[in-house]
Amino acid sequence: MIVFKNVLKRYGGIKVLDGINLNIQTGEAVAIIGPSGSGKTTLIRTINGFVVPDSGVVSVNGDVVDYSNKKFLRNLRKKIGMIYQLFNLVERASALENVLSGCLGRHDNGMGLLFSTIGFFSKEEKELAMELLRFVGLEHKAFERVDRLSGGEKQRVAIARALMQKPDILLADEPIANLDPKTSKKIIELLLRINEEKKITLICVLHHLETVENNFKRIIALNRGKIIYDGFTSSLNRAELLAIYEESELCEAA
Ligand SMILES: Nc1ncnc2c1ncn2[C@@H]1O[C@H](COP(=O)(O)OP(=O)(O)OP(=O)(O)O)[C@@H](O)[C@H]1O
Ligand SMILES: [Mg+2]
Repeated sequence: MIVFKNVLKRYGGIKVLDGINLNIQTGEAVAIIGPSGSGKTTLIRTINGFVVPDSGVVSVNGDVVDYSNKKFLRNLRKKIGMIYQLFNLVERASALENVLSGCLGRHDNGMGLLFSTIGFFSKEEKELAMELLRFVGLEHKAFERVDRLSGGEKQRVAIARALMQKPDILLADEPIANLDPKTSKKIIELLLRINEEKKITLICVLHHLETVENNFKRIIALNRGKIIYDGFTSSLNRAELLAIYEESELCEAA
């Protein structure tokens, strides 16, 4: 379970997270929506300790995140996989090498250590990496360099890399922002399949409202660092969903 208690984060005097209270159950899948700059990325990065709140408490699986304890953060990050909009893979390395780098764990910008020789890894690790590439439907591209893969294929490699960590939690920050609609649908389906089959908690920042409506039971909507909606997707109609975005534009214009 992930719990936020009164979490506050300021940048340059502006409250980017303004009193966040939140409970996300183990194994849940939630979508986080909200206008650009509303604090979505900042919020999810407090969960793996890449953003340090100014006050309040975040706890993960019963442990209060100790942002000043490097060992704690290292262990925390082992259990949290990250998926990014721009994939953050090592383009010149193969799909398999990228997946294997997941067991080195702890990516922030995705450029974490990559050992150039596959020989560095154990037989078990290599078998797991191949199994994960198979799971995401990319076994046949294992030895292909990532810069030769399509966007959707790159995101699959990134997902396999995150799974290599054997995470409890997957944080996905706009994982389909750079993909076409058909590919986007497949990636979201894959993430939800992982959530269901592997019981991995999925927290997914998304901009595409139809995707959210069609796939996520629970929405958390942010506006100017505050949660303005947290509940069933089905309780919101299209107009109310759109208003989450429109309202902020009106505020901005005022
Ligand atoms: N490291 C930082 N230093 C200063 N300001 C920051 C930093 N990170 C984020 N901000 C500011 O905090 C606010 C929220 O940023 P955040 O990236 O969380 O928004 P977001 O909701 O993810 O937006 P988007 O949809 O565009 O990705 C923005 O105004 C941003 O400029
Ligand atoms: Mg963001």
